[in-house]
Amino acid sequence: MELLLPILLGILAALIGGLYLLGVFRQQRPGEPPLDKGLIPWLGHVLEFRRNTLKFLERMKEKHGDVFTIQLGGFYITFLQDPLSFGAFVKESREKLDFSKFAVHLVRRVFGYVAIEGDHHILQMSSNKHLKGDGLEVMTQSMMSNLQNLMLHNIGSAADQSTWIEDGLFMYSYNILFRAGYLSLYGNVPHKSEESEEKAKEKDRAESEALFYEFRKYDQLFPNLAYGVLPPRKRMEAERLMEYFWNALSVQKMRTKDNISRWVWDMQQSKEEMGMKESMINKYMFVLLWASQGNTGPSAFWLLLFLMKHPEAMAAVKEEVDKVLKESGQEVQHGGPLINLTREMLMKTPILDSAVEETLRLTAAPLLTRAVLQDMTLKMADGRKYFIRKGDRMAMFPYIAVHIDPEIHPDPHSFKYDRFLNPDGTKKTDFYKAGKKVKYYSMPWGAGVSMCPGRFFATNELKQFAFLMLVYFEFELKNPEEKIPEIDFRRWGFGSMQPVRDVQFRYKLRY
Ligand code: HEM
Repeated sequence: MELLLPILLGILAALIGGLYLLGVFRQQRPGEPPLDKGLIPWLGHVLEFRRNTLKFLERMKEKHGDVFTIQLGGFYITFLQDPLSFGAFVKESREKLDFSKFAVHLVRRVFGYVAIEGDHHILQMSSNKHLKGDGLEVMTQSMMSNLQNLMLHNIGSAADQSTWIEDGLFMYSYNILFRAGYLSLYGNVPHKSEESEEKAKEKDRAESEALFYEFRKYDQLFPNLAYGVLPPRKRMEAERLMEYFWNALSVQKMRTKDNISRWVWDMQQSKEEMGMKESMINKYMFVLLWASQGNTGPSAFWLLLFLMKHPEAMAAVKEEVDKVLKESGQEVQHGGPLINLTREMLMKTPILDSAVEETLRLTAAPLLTRAVLQDMTLKMADGRKYFIRKGDRMAMFPYIAVHIDPEIHPDPHSFKYDRFLNPDGTKKTDFYKAGKKVKYYSMPWGAGVSMCPGRFFATNELKQFAFLMLVYFEFELKNPEEKIPEIDFRRWGFGSMQPVRDVQFRYKLRY
């Protein structure tokens, strides 16, 4: 008996400890947001959340209101869904709400990259220099010549696209944007290493095509990889693909390239100076490829699709780009020189800007997550206060809270190309909820410390692609009656959404 008692006490303690870890004892304390642990210990709502994040969060919002804490795979996450209070999340100090902890964990799992102190600072420094202002000018020019190489290389040749060509719009747009973006950031095959400029361009086309093909495979594995639920065979495939990209984007390979963007170059240099091993820098190059190329292609697809489904939008945007082209003194002519589409020209397209912003409102749905490092009080715009515990997480899903809120954006599921235009043709930034101005009225780029540093470049890429398509090609849906495909709900929370199926279209050169 004397021996049995300590053993029994030990088992009891282990049991209580286990139940504690499973979250069985956690209760909502006074002042805390409503707590919904779900029925499965520890896992909580993770299955329903993963199945369809949008539907699940809509259900939770209906049940609990605009602030609630849920259990997901051992974490307690408080969702803030009141857009008027978003400032409390976005502007909270890094000592309380931390982005990097979560990001470090994710990039290790999905890219094999082990982050170091100072990583984020290096990224922000390089982005501020090269993805904005004068740096952006250089990047825009580089993107233009790569887009022209991919889209217009056989103008005037026997394989001229003067007859209709059919393709899947999603694959076409993603392919072009990915490859042109990749070449602009990671550089071109040098002319001098090939027989001629033409040969070097041909090599760029072939190499980037092969890369895109592998990227799509990884892209499709990505959501389950990020959630850590890939079955073993697919996990092996993901690992093979990672190796492929570490090699394809390696520092050594890049040394053989011309026109590497300063954005990538500076980051490579800084990491080298900090003593990072080359093999680890190669992994970081893959992180950058993913961040820079995973969203723009899908967004370009939606933009062209919405334009084709809305003839009034197509006509307005086409009229605008024709006018800008004419004012620049250029003309697209059969056998004439390729147009020089400058950043200055791209700054004179408010209608296209609005169409891009509307596309992103409808199809970009990031989930913003932060780790709670200290006990804190969340102060809502209407005066409510909530106590948030250290060790939990906080998150926002602006798609539900803002993008499709009918009070902020009436008729929210419809594409209205001029939604972001004032009657006088200037950019509209005044949107209201409950009579109050909403500062964060669309958040495709996230917000705060982790806000997308590539947003200006990405917007330019989308506009350049649309501009070239509109001035050089006629394009139409194969079946104009075809419905806009649903969003693939497995990707909610991962930036730009993808459709559940492709849409066939055809295009041919205008001149
Ligand atoms: C339509 C295109 C794009 C969309 C919708 C988009 C969206 C986003 C979002 C929502 C985030 C924040 C994620 C978070 O808070 O967890 C992000 C981060 C990031 N984006 Fe983009 N992005 C796009 C294009 C680009 C491009 C073209 C580049 C680079 C040239 C880029 C580089 C990055 C980087 C490096 C980060 C990480 C930022 C950090 O860790 O602070 N993105 N993007």
